[in-house]
Amino acid sequence: MMLKDKIALVTGAGGGIGAAIAEAYAQAGAHVVLADLNESALAPVRDRCAEYGVRVQAVSVDVTDSDATKAMIDGAVADFGRLDILVNGAGLLTEAPLLEMEPALWDQMISVDLTSVFLCCRWAAPHMVAQGSGRIINVASQLGIKGGESLVHYSAAKAGVIGLTKALAREMAPLGVLVNAIAPGPVETPLLAGITKEWREAKQAELPLRRFGTVDEVAPTAVLLASEPGGNLYVGQVLGPNSGDVMP
Ligand SMILES: NC(=O)c1ccc[n+]([C@@H]2O[C@H](COP(=O)([O-])OP(=O)(O)OC[C@H]3O[C@@H](n4cnc5c(N)ncnc54)[C@H](O)[C@@H]3O)[C@@H](O)[C@H]2O)c1
Repeated sequence: MMLKDKIALVTGAGGGIGAAIAEAYAQAGAHVVLADLNESALAPVRDRCAEYGVRVQAVSVDVTDSDATKAMIDGAVADFGRLDILVNGAGLLTEAPLLEMEPALWDQMISVDLTSVFLCCRWAAPHMVAQGSGRIINVASQLGIKGGESLVHYSAAKAGVIGLTKALAREMAPLGVLVNAIAPGPVETPLLAGITKEWREAKQAELPLRRFGTVDEVAPTAVLLASEPGGNLYVGQVLGPNSGDVMP
């Protein structure tokens, strides 16, 4: 029960990695607020988390909407009394070579995968600073470090998340709030549903581990970063459960 009675809010909780982190938090004793654009995806996650006997709330929200995001976070604090852990897991993946990339596709990616992280941090941080404690965990990607073909927008957004994490970590650590990122490699989730068999096989052959990860192999990193004393000394770090693809 490493997170017993902590209050955690996880965005993207209807999807693969976010749902697994929310469930791991519930299993560790945290009460969880599950946030996602896809309301129907939240119901089974809510049921699985509730099996651990913790309080669970599911909220449908578009994390690119500043007012809605602020209302969600303020509402969670009003209902649960505090906010100990924020995980920014919401994201999407689209693909296009630069020569075919419409500016609208770029804008959408920056909005969903980067600006949303700023917004959730912006509206959660005041509560954490007032408490004098908190943990913020941003889900980036190893592609923010190494870059990916046909993914200039995604790579830029995730590199932005890493930069934001480091800058915010410096600002917040003296105030008691620890900010870190997780940069997974390829993980079996609906996000990778569209990849071809050829791409999958080629990618797997490149990985020192020779296989993609599972969400259950990523979630424990988020538990570690949220925990005490195990997470106490991580400040502005980018942890990489990535099958060995990137070794910074
Ligand atoms: N799967 C991978 O290989 C992989 C690798 C590295 C990083 N990531 C990152 O992990 C995070 C989770 O990805 P996943 O693989 O679990 O994907 P996923 O598609 O299973 O989950 C993403 C979730 O985010 C939600 N979402 C999307 N836009 C939203 C919005 N505007 N507001 C609220 N919710 C929104 C979706 O509804 C979905 O439930 C993402 O940030 C992704 O970039 C994934």
